[in-house]
Amino acid sequence: MTPEPAKPTPPAPGSAPAPVPGSAPGSAPGSAPGSAPGSGSAPGPVTAESGITRLARASLAAGDATGWFERLYAEAEAGAAEIPWDSEHPSRLLTEWAEHGDVTGAARTALVVGCGPGRDAEYLARLGFVVTAFDISATAIRTARRRHPDSPVDYVEADLLALPHAWRGAFDLVVESNNVQALPEPVRRRAIAAIGPLVAPGGTLLVLAAAHGTTTTAPVRDHALRVGVVGTNTTAEDMAADGPPWPLTRAEIDAFAAGTGLTPIAVEHLTDPSGPFVTRWRAEFTAA
Ligand SMILES: C[S@@+](CC[C@H](N)C(=O)[O-])C[C@H]1O[C@@H](n2cnc3c(N)ncnc32)[C@H](O)[C@@H]1O
Repeated sequence: MTPEPAKPTPPAPGSAPAPVPGSAPGSAPGSAPGSAPGSGSAPGPVTAESGITRLARASLAAGDATGWFERLYAEAEAGAAEIPWDSEHPSRLLTEWAEHGDVTGAARTALVVGCGPGRDAEYLARLGFVVTAFDISATAIRTARRRHPDSPVDYVEADLLALPHAWRGAFDLVVESNNVQALPEPVRRRAIAAIGPLVAPGGTLLVLAAAHGTTTTAPVRDHALRVGVVGTNTTAEDMAADGPPWPLTRAEIDAFAAGTGLTPIAVEHLTDPSGPFVTRWRAEFTAA
């Protein structure tokens, strides 16, 4: 996967989003991992697509929604797989948001959900936040610490679905970027519900995620785009066939605030000029 551009374009609501981690730049979200028919067991060169397709499908077939992340990171560490979202550059939608809002940390706390090797966590630390960053994958956390030996970021191995109670309401900024889109139901719904309560009073939740090409809230399966959108009628089998990633509906974006005291500041549905079907959410919420 081609890394995101080093220099972000000037921010403008509705402007070009970053490529969707977990899918090839310029292609529809969901068109890379999990969408190449037949690639699962085929021999051939190590690619991000084949690694994710093979590992995720095996994991999902076994009823394990998240086990493939550690296996992917471990294979990548051994040189046997590639991680498509692994970039030295922070998410462009995050840097645009921070630059546009003149965001500085000023020693406020930030939590990065599903931090991987730490690209967004390191960026927030450079902005002056006191950053905690966690991932379910022990190898991802080990990689983050190894890559950033002098980092002030506190990298923690933790499961979003079983976080320390002390983290509730503890963070002035919570960043969820591209993680929920990689989770199937029913874990997905629980993951969304777990994130909002982490925001401190007066704090901010920023959600960055692949979006379906329309803002429909209805369950849709669009095989032409190879995009699976989760809805009430979507089965685990449907999801395994189409993703990961599974772009989020508007209803799922709204669900981050449900029952949490969060209110939306801005919910942007952004289109990537490199492909009319690549759309992303950037949603900012504030806590009462
Ligand atoms: C698609 S990657 C995105 C990584 C990173 N946010 C980025 O954009 O570069 C999803 C990440 O979420 C992590 N993850 C998945 N399920 C998780 C869970 N239940 N708790 C914590 N991390 C999780 C994975 O290990 C992986 O690093």
